[in-house]
Amino acid sequence: METITLTIDGRTITAAPGQSILEVAEANGIRIPTLCHLEGLSDVGACRLCIVEVAGQLVPSCTTQAVDGADIKTQTDTIKVHRRMILELLFAEGNHVCSFCASSGGCELQDLACELEMHSVTVPYSYPRNRIDATHPWFLIDRDRCVLCGRCVRTCAEVEGAHTWGFAERGSSARVITDLAADWGEAESCTSCGKCVEVCPTGAIVLKGASNAEMRKDSDLVARLTERRDHE
Ligand code: SF4
Ligand code: SF4
Ligand code: FES
Repeated sequence: METITLTIDGRTITAAPGQSILEVAEANGIRIPTLCHLEGLSDVGACRLCIVEVAGQLVPSCTTQAVDGADIKTQTDTIKVHRRMILELLFAEGNHVCSFCASSGGCELQDLACELEMHSVTVPYSYPRNRIDATHPWFLIDRDRCVLCGRCVRTCAEVEGAHTWGFAERGSSARVITDLAADWGEAESCTSCGKCVEVCPTGAIVLKGASNAEMRKDSDLVARLTERRDHE
C-alpha cells in the first residue's frame, strides 16, 4: 500500500495518501479541537477551530490534505491566539448564557471554552434577538445559539436525504433556515427524524420540553449510521 511520511509536532508519522491532516492526527492520538467536523459527514471548514500551522501558514486541518514531507504544528502560540479569538467571536455573536441553556453540560461549544481556558470574552457582544422557532411539534431552534457549523444542513442532506435545512443571507445576517425560510412546523420536506437535533453541537436545536442542562445529544449517531450504510 502506498504511504506518505510527515511530521506532526515533531513526531514522524506514516499515513495514507488522501487523508486530511485532522484524520492523520486523530489516528495517531493527537488532539485538535473541532466544531463543524463530524465523523460521517463531509468536511466544509466552516468554524476554523481546527487550524494548524503548515510552513508558517494557518490552515484548517479538516479540509487540508496531508502531504508527503509536511511539517505540521498543532499547538504554537499563534494557533492558540487565533483559536481563542475564533471561540470568543462565536460566543460574542450569539446568546450563549449557559445557565439558561438546555444543552449546558452537554454542549461542545462549552466544552471547547473549558479546553481552551476561555474564562471571559474580550470582544463586544452582539446581543442578537432572533425569534425562536418552536412550530415543529417536537423540536425547536434558537438561532441565537447557532454557531453556523452546518452539521444540521449536512446531516439532513447527506444522511436523511431530506434537504430541509439550508443557509440564508451572509455575514452577520447568515442563518440556517428550513424549506426556503418556512417555519419548521410548515416545512414539508422534514421527516421529523430528529437527526439534526442529535448532531447540533450547541443548544440551538433541542427537544421541546428540555429544561436547563437536561438536553443530551448523541453526536456519534451519524458515524454509526454512515458506517452501517457504507458496509451494506
Ligand atoms: S428532523 Fe430530520 S428531516 Fe427534519 S430537519 Fe431534522 S434532520 Fe431534516
Ligand atoms: S443549528 Fe446547530 S447544527 Fe445547525 S448550524 Fe446551527 S449550531 Fe450547527
Ligand atoms: S472542524 Fe475544521 S473548520 Fe471546523
